[in-house]
Amino acid sequence: MAKQGFFSSVLSGIRERYEQSLLEDIKKDPLPRHVAVIMDGNRRFARQLNVSSDKGHLLGKERLEEFLDWAYDIGIKIVTVYAFSTENFKRDSSEIEYLMNLYANSFNDLVRDERITKNRIRVRLIGKTELLPEAVRLAASRAEEYTKNFDKYLLNVAIAYGGREEILDAIKSISKEVKKGTLNPEDIDEKLIERYLYTGEIDDPDLVIRTSGEERISNFLLWQSAYSELYFTDVYWPDITKLDLLKAVRDYQKRQRRYGK
Ligand code: FPP
Ligand code: MG
Repeated sequence: MAKQGFFSSVLSGIRERYEQSLLEDIKKDPLPRHVAVIMDGNRRFARQLNVSSDKGHLLGKERLEEFLDWAYDIGIKIVTVYAFSTENFKRDSSEIEYLMNLYANSFNDLVRDERITKNRIRVRLIGKTELLPEAVRLAASRAEEYTKNFDKYLLNVAIAYGGREEILDAIKSISKEVKKGTLNPEDIDEKLIERYLYTGEIDDPDLVIRTSGEERISNFLLWQSAYSELYFTDVYWPDITKLDLLKAVRDYQKRQRRYGK
């Protein structure tokens, strides 16, 4: 036991020093302004621990709070997280119900969370919100209203989100304008389409991180990630550490420097 204690404290010392040196390196180059995250692997993580999937999602939620602290703390301005895809509606109703409660409670808690107020984080829900239970929509719109003038950081939470659906919705709204005669087809350009996307006119993600070893974009921010750097890591979402985020950012910076030459 004593030996284990010794080795684990040596390991955590090494880890801390590595974190510190990465943090110093990161300060030397431009940061990604917008980081988007596909939080994957909650259930596999739960299985590893021999706990329920619901517990895995709860641990995922707790880790998300820490992740946001790390991200905003190093100076990332915009974070977009993929919490529930349109595909996820095919899961068992009990899992969907658990997740929807978790989202509603999280939006409710957010209004009372001093980190949101202190750091002036604006929160927005993006997705086909009409597919969501009333409780989630209500809690989200309260959080959006409460944070609407916060301008230091932005958090987009994608729930009932699908990239193709987002583009389809934009096409439908644009077509209606054309039909009404309020929009000339010649005037449809990239900027205009962006205005009709759920994300609106914000900068595209510079970096998309996906956890759990899967290497797919899975219908996330299809339009917006056209030029994003993609970073995949094997770690399951509830197990992600600050070191993983720093490694992803450093990797992004190295790629940017290479392309800049
Ligand atoms: C993917 O793991 C995760 C989800 C579908 C849910 C994501 C939700 C959270 C991280 C909870 C907190 C979020 C908010 C906004 C409060 P998975 O279920 O696909 O697991 P698997 O890939 O191992 O099967
Ligand atoms: Mg998954």
